[in-house]
Amino acid sequence: MAGAHATSLLSAHVSVRYADKPSILRDVKFEIRHGEVLGLVGQSGSGKSTLAMSILGLLDKKHSCIEGVINFQDSDLLQLSERELRALRGRSIALVLQSPLSSLNPALKIRTQLKEAWRAHASGSSADCIHAMRIALQSVSLPSDDDFLRKYPSQMSVGQAQRVLIAMATLHRPALLIADEATSALDVITQSEILALFRELNRSTGMAILYISHDLASVAGICDRIAILHQGTIVECGTTQQIFGNPRQEYTQKLMASMPRIQPAPANKTHVAAAR
Ligand SMILES: Nc1ncnc2c1ncn2[C@@H]1O[C@H](COP(=O)(O)OP(=O)(O)OP(=O)(O)O)[C@@H](O)[C@H]1O
Ligand SMILES: [Mg+2]
Repeated sequence: MAGAHATSLLSAHVSVRYADKPSILRDVKFEIRHGEVLGLVGQSGSGKSTLAMSILGLLDKKHSCIEGVINFQDSDLLQLSERELRALRGRSIALVLQSPLSSLNPALKIRTQLKEAWRAHASGSSADCIHAMRIALQSVSLPSDDDFLRKYPSQMSVGQAQRVLIAMATLHRPALLIADEATSALDVITQSEILALFRELNRSTGMAILYISHDLASVAGICDRIAILHQGTIVECGTTQQIFGNPRQEYTQKLMASMPRIQPAPANKTHVAAAR
């Protein structure tokens, strides 16, 4: 979707604090462009999920204070009512979280959960609903037959459960998908499969993705641009190539230096000699 990246889908300038504590996010300014994958990287506690919840209007209003503006598709999300936000969540902006098995309801079959997600934003016949479910499951490379739809979450692998969640999140073709540590709980093989899936969905549907992670390797593999969050502000934002190849800020340089590099263990000389 390289050509679609120029214009802004979401632009934000926000500050957030919880109760009377110091601000968690201070004058955080960033944009997500149409069709891009933007990485949001920062160490634990830097405020990544707080930023995601701010976009979705999911911060507890009684115990938090948010100031600023989040422009998305001609609206300032911070000015919308709860009813307007409900209409938008899951339809225009969707969320995928870290642990699929705790995000799915263990007591309900996959079919019931997909149906509820579809009915939240669409009206139509049961046949329309089943058709939409099957397409969504196929788009994440899962079986879409009745046997699969009858499964409970506990009858699936974690990777399959994460695919179901992604199918659910993309059922209504949202313009923006927020993936908050969505691959962190997965083993490396499943993680790379889910990353490839995100990339494929981004390419085939043009859906923009805010990919939140503290795992630099996964960020490098999927993102067009990367924003670095540190101590409540975005200290640097640039293309993946620039952030990895020529990080400008000291904190970004430190982050890059902390990336593990795989080096072969030195050969055991005694052992090698014995083998000759
Ligand atoms: N509901 C809340 N009430 C009070 N403080 C909170 C609340 N949620 C988060 N915080 C605090 O805000 C800070 C940022 O938390 P947040 O969850 O946004 O970080 P994060 O970057 O997503 O971390 P991680 O990588 O561990 O998921 C932390 O200090 C956390 O303790
Ligand atoms: Mg978080």
